[in-house]
Amino acid sequence: MNQTQIINQQSYYRGEWKRGYDSQPNEYEYEIENIEGKIPPELQGTLFRNGPGLLDIAGTPIHHPFDGDGMVSAFYFQNGKAYFRNRFVATEAYIQEKAAGKILYRGVFGTQKPGGFINNIFDFKLKNIANTNVIYWGNKLLALWEAAEPHLLNPQTLETIGIDYLDGVLQPGDSWAAHPWVDPHSILDDAQPCLVNFSISPGLSSKITVFELAPDGKILRRHSHIIPGFSFIHDFAITPNYCVFFQNPVNFNPLPFLLGLKGAGECVEFQPNKPTRVILIPRDPSNKQMKTFMVDSGFVFHHANAFEREDQVCIDSIAYATLPQVKPNSDYKEVNFDNLDPGRLWRFTLNLSAETVERQLLENTCCEFPAVNPDKVGRDYRYLFIGATHQDNGRNAPLQAIMKLDLKTGQRQLHSFAPHGYVSEPIFVPKPDATAEDEGWILTLVYNGKDHRSSLAILDGKNIAGQPVALLHLKHHIPYGLHGSWTSEVF
Ligand code: CO
Repeated sequence: MNQTQIINQQSYYRGEWKRGYDSQPNEYEYEIENIEGKIPPELQGTLFRNGPGLLDIAGTPIHHPFDGDGMVSAFYFQNGKAYFRNRFVATEAYIQEKAAGKILYRGVFGTQKPGGFINNIFDFKLKNIANTNVIYWGNKLLALWEAAEPHLLNPQTLETIGIDYLDGVLQPGDSWAAHPWVDPHSILDDAQPCLVNFSISPGLSSKITVFELAPDGKILRRHSHIIPGFSFIHDFAITPNYCVFFQNPVNFNPLPFLLGLKGAGECVEFQPNKPTRVILIPRDPSNKQMKTFMVDSGFVFHHANAFEREDQVCIDSIAYATLPQVKPNSDYKEVNFDNLDPGRLWRFTLNLSAETVERQLLENTCCEFPAVNPDKVGRDYRYLFIGATHQDNGRNAPLQAIMKLDLKTGQRQLHSFAPHGYVSEPIFVPKPDATAEDEGWILTLVYNGKDHRSSLAILDGKNIAGQPVALLHLKHHIPYGLHGSWTSEVF
């Protein structure tokens, strides 16, 4: 089927799409030999991905993929060859449930222990499922989940070493978000790179803590700020001078959670008629001037990038008109995409002295999982790469394509894997000695529903619509994942 044939029809088969949520209980390691095209020999380094590996515990389905145990995959590239390995993060809960052969913990997104509310009431033990992101920083490979501490893994074997406190930066019970950014040239550190991340302790008011770590992992800056109201903040954005947080209007009614009727994530209620608070926190801890702006934004999970321009801060984000509510008796695999609001790319421009916000729709196509050239993080930039639906009708559907947006000309390029392929978050890897912003490779894991296997696609950043540079076919599938990262290290 070519692209024109599937316009105005559904671009996917639900039966195939659903199988991308089958568990992958096996752990593999092998050299990838089934390759279409050629791996560029200059592509040297490692791609790490994280996501739920188990969508059931001993045959009992979990209620939401966000509750699935973290499984890390690694693609090691060296001399034109690629080696694959995947391994579960051996969290305490994963080991216990594997031994018990049943669900022992409640999940944040509604997975309950069997036995109804009697068995779940007043049980506040949550699994640290380490399933959202994986980063290599300060010579450590860390699996991240936003509501608890990171797990340290061996980058070569993916073996779990244990919970990591970042050399005393964190204390037991602390959380650390799953969305760190690397500032490529921190103005606070003589243009050296640094990692910026945050943690949030929600309550009637919420505490945001900002952490900045040097390339050797040492803490450079840490500062905390109290903001009014409950917050559910998954991601943030950075510029050279600021961290930007979107405090979406949500209510948290913990009663059904406390009573064992719902997961904590199901008790978050979006307030569509209330504005979002955009919070600007200076990265320099000596500057205590936190600024708050009000804007109608809808609900934002992910930010694509942010930058400063004269007296303005611009933030490009994927916003939904409403937060899709997780319902206790719903089956995520039976979701009606037409009833879900699409994610759309918006630019929010904060005018610092006038204290106003303007918003502008940059792209109407339903999209999610943005990526930019790592050298442009926090800077004015031209190219955005993002997972998108096959059709550009602005409706919600599974992500089957990678879209490249030229924010200067408004031009858009699409590489679609429809009707059988489903993409994951793209990662941009610059070519060695690249001079242009889009001179690099896009790496994305594609689930192929026809043969129930996954492949890693390598696309040419300058011409993503063209033939893939290479397709690396795995011997098995990887369930739909969340986030990952690239390091030029080879282990
Ligand atoms: Co995320």
